[in-house]
Amino acid sequence: MDFEKIVDRKQTSCVKWDRAEKIFGSSDVLPMWVADMDFDNAPPIKEALRKMIDEEVLGYTFPPDSLYSAISNWQKDKHDMPVEKDNILLSPGVLSSIAVAVQAFTDPGDSVLIHDPVYPPFYSMVNKNDRNVYRTSLTLRDGQYTMDFQDIEKQFLDRDIKLFILSNPHNPGGRVWTKDELVQLVELCKKHQVILVSDEIHSDLVYSEQTCLSPVTLDESYKDWVVTLHSATKTFNLAGVKTSFILVFNDTLKEQLVKVQEETELDIVNTFGMRATEAAFSEARDWKDALLEKLEANRMIVTDFFDKELPEVSYMVPEATYLFWFDAKSLSVENEKLRETFAKVGKIGLNDGISYGPSGSSHMRLNFAVPESLLIDGLKRIKTVFDHYSN
Ligand SMILES: Cc1ncc(COP(=O)(O)O)c(C=O)c1O
Repeated sequence: MDFEKIVDRKQTSCVKWDRAEKIFGSSDVLPMWVADMDFDNAPPIKEALRKMIDEEVLGYTFPPDSLYSAISNWQKDKHDMPVEKDNILLSPGVLSSIAVAVQAFTDPGDSVLIHDPVYPPFYSMVNKNDRNVYRTSLTLRDGQYTMDFQDIEKQFLDRDIKLFILSNPHNPGGRVWTKDELVQLVELCKKHQVILVSDEIHSDLVYSEQTCLSPVTLDESYKDWVVTLHSATKTFNLAGVKTSFILVFNDTLKEQLVKVQEETELDIVNTFGMRATEAAFSEARDWKDALLEKLEANRMIVTDFFDKELPEVSYMVPEATYLFWFDAKSLSVENEKLRETFAKVGKIGLNDGISYGPSGSSHMRLNFAVPESLLIDGLKRIKTVFDHYSN
């Protein structure tokens, strides 16, 4: 577990590093954008994959019971959510699961509600499936995002919303929703017959002062309204193996999901992903605990840096995720130019907030899951941009 080792990821078809030039228009940008960590993978996962390559033939495979047990044990131990094999649907990715949920629970022309701001593919996935996407703005309270339940209920009614997609915890703000917030949300869903898709891909990366709750665990009746999406790929940085799972407890909801999955072959996951997921959940728990300590230390470095070096910049302290959301409005650079400005002036690649929705205006998102030396380098590059505009 050497989280300070610099891993050279260039020329490995790595989106974060090898697409940086295309995205940011310059080859000397330090990429701190897409949610992908610059740490070596956990040794037990690598070992499981190595063993497979050495000893097995890579023909057709099916999900073994041991994979379902690994997922059940993880959900029970880490999320207080007892799940049986029957409740687990494997899926190539959380975004594939969102597409499946959209097709399963809505018809073309139906309306889906998401937060503003939120992870951009929520919008595009619904839109590409010919459904209407509406946004409910998160409001700022004590420097953190909170939900506007009045607006949510109004939109449920006015727009006849069929599906709500929640990022739980929230990407990009790093918010861990409280029990009270989740209960209010699901109660509204129940009242207005809206299915809630809870995307919990970041739910294992939660800092020590917080507990991330799965809405489905809060009341037995919520099982009829909530579908949970999760994966080992964010926690253990395995996005390339394309394996995730849907947790569903209601028979009708499950039937609807299975129908779409079977029609599209999105019920099949790949051999490497199954093996990696099982090894991660069963054998890499210590690695994950150590990772969280490292991320917590990095979070402190980032907030200390902003407090001392950039006191005029407001930001959100993430309660979960390795994502840091800050407001670059003091630069007075228009949204369309922000990403390019950070790339050109600071030589740093960040996600631009406007792509997360109108409320992301003037914001930028930094990924701090990197060795300390890269983090310090990245923070200095960000400061260069602010210094450039203040002179
Ligand atoms: C909230 C959220 N959902 C889904 C994904 C992507 O999941 P997958 O790679 O399994 O499609 C991400 C990736 O960053 C994410 O932040």
